[in-house]
Amino acid sequence: MENKKIILTADRPTGKLHIGHYIGSIKQRIACQNAGGYDDMYIMIADAQALTDNAKNVNKVRENITEVILDYLACGLDPNKVTFYIQSLVPELTELTFYYMNLVTLARLQRNPTVKEELKLREFGKSIPVGFLTYPISQAADITALDATIIPVGDDQLPMIEQTRDIVRTFNATYGETLVEPKELIPESEFCRRLPGTDGNGKMSKSLGNCIYLSDSDEEIDAKVMTMYTDPNHIKITDPGKVEGNVVFIYLEAFSSKEDFDKYLPEFTDLDDLKNKYQQGGVGDVKIKRFLAKILKDLITPIRERRKEYQAKIPEIFDMLYKGSQKASARARETLNRVKKAMGINYFEDSDYLNNQYKKYE
Ligand code: TRP
Repeated sequence: MENKKIILTADRPTGKLHIGHYIGSIKQRIACQNAGGYDDMYIMIADAQALTDNAKNVNKVRENITEVILDYLACGLDPNKVTFYIQSLVPELTELTFYYMNLVTLARLQRNPTVKEELKLREFGKSIPVGFLTYPISQAADITALDATIIPVGDDQLPMIEQTRDIVRTFNATYGETLVEPKELIPESEFCRRLPGTDGNGKMSKSLGNCIYLSDSDEEIDAKVMTMYTDPNHIKITDPGKVEGNVVFIYLEAFSSKEDFDKYLPEFTDLDDLKNKYQQGGVGDVKIKRFLAKILKDLITPIRERRKEYQAKIPEIFDMLYKGSQKASARARETLNRVKKAMGINYFEDSDYLNNQYKKYE
């Protein structure tokens, strides 16, 4: 069990996936899938987690299951190499969560920086749904249920992986070695780990309306790139420009390659050269925006085309999701049995326990 390499990750189905998802996690997943050498790779659609702040919005979650699976397949994640499944079809996860809850304090949950930030953003005030506050525990169940060892995620998910490791250690210390500790796999480049939105405000997120989606048309990409935040003091082309905090440059850091320069901007050798000349003055914002738009269209066009092909195969895709969920559930059942045995609550498989109880009042 300890030596297996099991890759697992997930997304909440609350909207179509955007380029922040792509550069922060999906690109890594594709690299893992293509590198091979793993025992299993799982990608979960986290509908139950999405419901923790969408209880009155079930329809949004229902509709976006289809959008998210289409985005995955369009990006090149391959059902022959990856098991895709839906969280709520694996009830073992809920049962594990219930036992893990006893190993986590309220204070520990409230310290989780991602949860803190999300609570602020959602303006729950004093009306925080209990399910929302506790979703990191359910995420620990998602991960441990399949003995996952490698979790490809963006920066914002690090606190969840840490919390999962805490739970694993507490569980193992309390009940004996049972659960496997996971490790995150995050992109090396800081620009990829946490891509800001097109307005430069915080991370790219549907609720902030600052996303470029993997299904956007060329026209939408052009329009969104043109409105991007650059340097407000870079007014004339000859003015020196700032690259720090300049969203176009942050995106170029994340998405551009030497080949893009050779193809579209041969007058600059590479990004460092462009940055230098922009800082000196003499490079206009429209030029760098057009360049970025070309790069993003090169990335998104094949994804959007493949998405169209998959849109013609929805029944097959749902069949695949159902079978994947059955497989995940069977695997999670094994872990749940192991957990209950370690805890000593597997009464009917424990003949010593049964015999003792039978004899107790003889
Ligand atoms: N919290 C993740 C997100 O918002 C989704 C998620 C749920 C997840 N369960 C997971 C990610 C398990 C990695 C592993 O994107």
